[in-house]
Amino acid sequence: MKKPRVVLTRRWPAAVETALAARFDAVFNASDEAFDAEALRAALRDADALCPTVTDRLDASVLGVGDCRAKLIANYGVGFNHIDLAAAAQAGLKVSNTPGVLTDCTADLTLTLMLMLARRAGEGEREVRAGRWDGWRPTQFMGSRVTGKTLGLIGFGRIAEAVARRAHFGFGMRVLFHTPRPVEPAVAAACGAAPAASLEALLAASDFVSLHCPGGAETRHLLNAERLALMSPQAFLINTARGEVVDEAALIAALRDGRINGAGLDVYSAEPAVPAALMQMENVVLLPHLGSATEETRTAMGLRVLANLDAFFNGQPLPDPVI
Ligand code: DGY
Repeated sequence: MKKPRVVLTRRWPAAVETALAARFDAVFNASDEAFDAEALRAALRDADALCPTVTDRLDASVLGVGDCRAKLIANYGVGFNHIDLAAAAQAGLKVSNTPGVLTDCTADLTLTLMLMLARRAGEGEREVRAGRWDGWRPTQFMGSRVTGKTLGLIGFGRIAEAVARRAHFGFGMRVLFHTPRPVEPAVAAACGAAPAASLEALLAASDFVSLHCPGGAETRHLLNAERLALMSPQAFLINTARGEVVDEAALIAALRDGRINGAGLDVYSAEPAVPAALMQMENVVLLPHLGSATEETRTAMGLRVLANLDAFFNGQPLPDPVI
């Protein structure tokens, strides 16, 4: 029997590519260069399933391709704001993602950013590497204590819960959260977290604000100039969610004017472009969208995609359906 054809838009961990090649007519992207819109359309015409990543913009102009052969978009990643779900449904495509397997590593990276920011680790490392460090001094690189401070989480899904547990039980932090959906008090308590009265109250009360909500139209610029102004000038912002959740221009202005203390960013509005103004700022830690970037997690993400492909082509329900 002919194997279903699946197209991967980027290189995946070798073990997963090997497993895919054994089960499917798998087309790999040897150059690992991002597909443009025309390459995405060609893949939708040519394959039974497309396996994209966050770098593939699957908007209506791509998904509206007339002679679409693909029936499934099996996304490599949990976030799906790069996929126009209405246009996918219109084109008769199902969509799956990879929840769960990247929770711990993304939470770990959130803590990495929090500690780097508060303890000025990026600045210190730059000093050492530049050969400028002239020895220990009592007043050098004085940062902010993390232990016992207040952390405000915007969004309270799996990753935020994992961050809360680490922050509360590991660093003795008071953890507040804000989310539009109901959260069982027992779930919050098990993470050492409590709901804030409002988003505004959370922003005003937190020493660290960390974003854990999905991207997309509903959360675009959720953190705008007005809301950033509610943060304390001593507070830090951390974003491992999606760049578009923050109004980057407003963030740059707040940092430039000293209205917040610093920002730790793993995601940007127009990735891979990073605003030049941010690159000049010492009180900003900039990472290249590393949240899930561990050997273990990237392999597990690929295996989740494989599970979704297997189920789909065996006529079973998708384990991780988005639509
Ligand atoms: C995710 O899984 O959504 C990560 O941001 C990588 O796409």
